Amino acid sequence: MEKSHSRATFGGRISAVLVTAGSAVGLGNIWRFPYVAGENGGGAFLLVYAGCILLLGLPLTIAEFAIGKSTRCNAVGAYRRLAPRWSIIGYTGILTSTLILGFYFVVAGWTAEYMLHSLTGEIAARGEAESHRLLFERFIADPWRPALYAVAFAVATQLVISLGVRRGIERAAKVMMPLLFLALLALAVHSILLPGGLEGLRFFLAPDFSKLTASSVLTALGQAFFSLSIGLGTMVTYASYFTPSTDIRRTAWQVTAVDTLVALLAGLVIFPAVFSAGIEPDSGPSLVFITLPTIFGTLPLGGLWSAIFFLLLVIAALTSTISLHEACTAYLHEEWRLPRRTAACCTTLVTVLLGIFASLSFGVLNGWRIGSLTLFDALDHLTADLLLPLGGLMTCLFAGWHRHPKALYETLYRDPRLGIGDRTLRFLLRYVCPAVMVLLFLDSLGIG
Ligand code: PHE
Repeated sequence: MEKSHSRATFGGRISAVLVTAGSAVGLGNIWRFPYVAGENGGGAFLLVYAGCILLLGLPLTIAEFAIGKSTRCNAVGAYRRLAPRWSIIGYTGILTSTLILGFYFVVAGWTAEYMLHSLTGEIAARGEAESHRLLFERFIADPWRPALYAVAFAVATQLVISLGVRRGIERAAKVMMPLLFLALLALAVHSILLPGGLEGLRFFLAPDFSKLTASSVLTALGQAFFSLSIGLGTMVTYASYFTPSTDIRRTAWQVTAVDTLVALLAGLVIFPAVFSAGIEPDSGPSLVFITLPTIFGTLPLGGLWSAIFFLLLVIAALTSTISLHEACTAYLHEEWRLPRRTAACCTTLVTVLLGIFASLSFGVLNGWRIGSLTLFDALDHLTADLLLPLGGLMTCLFAGWHRHPKALYETLYRDPRLGIGDRTLRFLLRYVCPAVMVLLFLDSLGIG
């Protein structure tokens, strides 16, 4: 962008880590990771997941950081500047961010409802799992409440975004991320000390390779991808606000470490509690909304623990919706030259409409199907199984094979005489990541 000299930046090193970690840490870590791990053998899945983060997630994060930092542009502008033909990566990313926001607002809204439920004592008052299941199913099928929560969540996101990069995004992440971490830590300790908690710990940490299949390896890859917010330009956009002195490698290491640590902590909160209550660890996406409230209901001060847990989910979801929103807002602001506030309003309007329809697809609009899927499921599948792998594949092909302009080359590899670290990075981006992404992609298309 020609105006790049006047562009906002994050305050410094710590801010860069907290803000990007705020994007990475979200429902993907606390809601999705534990149930996916539970369905795929616990400890064995954990090992594969760690491998995916190191071999795939880390190099791609570094690549996206380098692209954003060297161009100081939104996702579309960044690629257009570097190589106009590759700006398709940016456009795919904006589309993906919009679609993810559509269903993310819905689940985020559920977490807000559950936080309030906990405070009003509704959670603690209910007894067995069946009654929690009814509560959940009735709630998500309601025509008004979940949709209103989704709208409320979108409005909260819009408020932070319209405060701007420094005052809004950065300040929110600086307060919320440490809070999230500390509260998760306290909950994990509490959970492990429950009677029977150690058994859950063993399930989560001791590998059982018998449950691990080829498709769970691919699931681990997809999870790593979604969790690190890569493959859709969010990290490109955030890195465009880095100060020149921000070390992208160190930041990438720190973000992937924090993201993985939070996923681990979420597992340490959930599995000991699940085993303590004698519930099956592979009960799927409902683990957080049905199983956990059941467990909280049996604990002393259950309502309080539950409120803390769902507050964490709200915080984690908010820092992620902010990043998805910012990717779209920065694009509209810089490419379409809309004033920032107008750009933010347009993003909110489109995504909130999508969110309302996605929310209604659990109830009154359940009959509207795309193929056999409801709108909510279609958004989830289209993004996680198709657009994200596609974006990831294109990003590593671009980073690994395209002849880069000097600024990007120097940010990505530092020195023309590549040291061992840079050579490893290039090898991963050139060969390992694309090969793995193609596999993931074929699998998600059902061809693998
Ligand atoms: N990484 C976020 C999570 O784990 C989700 C997300 C995906 C956010 C893509 C931004 C971009 O929940």
